[in-house]
Amino acid sequence: MSKTVLNLVMTFDGFVAGEHDEMDWLHKIHKRPTGSAKWDLSTFTSQVGAIIVGRRSYELGIAQGWFKNEAYGPSPIFVLCESVPANLSHDADFRFVSTGIQDAHRQASETAGDKWIYLFGGPNVFQQFLNEDLVDEMRITIAPILIGKGIRLFHNLTKRHIELEKINVTDHPNGMIETNYRIMK
Ligand SMILES: NC(=O)c1ccc[n+]([C@@H]2O[C@H](COP(=O)([O-])OP(=O)(O)OC[C@H]3O[C@@H](n4cnc5c(N)ncnc54)[C@H](OP(=O)(O)O)[C@@H]3O)[C@@H](O)[C@H]2O)c1
Repeated sequence: MSKTVLNLVMTFDGFVAGEHDEMDWLHKIHKRPTGSAKWDLSTFTSQVGAIIVGRRSYELGIAQGWFKNEAYGPSPIFVLCESVPANLSHDADFRFVSTGIQDAHRQASETAGDKWIYLFGGPNVFQQFLNEDLVDEMRITIAPILIGKGIRLFHNLTKRHIELEKINVTDHPNGMIETNYRIMK
């Protein structure tokens, strides 16, 4: 049975991007002289059998080449969308799902088998998965920077409390803190 794991980078004040989708804050951290330990995903992606991404992250990603050269591993990428985009990219094995999150999750589970489902985000898709109890684990890398405003990761949550159990925390020389929490159900 596969598990569904959110994995992304968030600013210390809780944003995954600036107001206009800026990721310059992350590049700034990666440029720090102590920054040899970048956000290395290869150990994680070797365990992954399917990826789920929202339409906005897909569009931004193909515009900026994020998905090229199996940057997130070789797994098929399920794109949640209202309708199949006109702009079809061949940067990865994209599969478009316009039948809702439960169906996207079912298709990804079937594809992943015993491997994990990598919930890529963005927040819109993540919040729906969280509200439907479809997330098992969160791997959130906290970037040591404040940006004040932007796209919040934790927003529109329908439950008053969601309890977490710590699995692991790793700190990196560039100030990034990788947190790994299980969602208690
Ligand atoms: N820091 C990080 O590590 C990280 C990681 C990932 C993303 N991000 C950032 O997150 C931002 C994008 O996140 P976002 O929350 O705005 O958008 P998103 O979750 O990437 O995509 C949302 C879109 O997905 C489609 N969608 C979502 N749920 C759906 C459903 N149930 N049925 C059908 N379609 C559905 C809709 O698109 P349509 O209606 O157009 O079809 C919706 O507008 C970007 O700035 C990106 O850079 C950051």
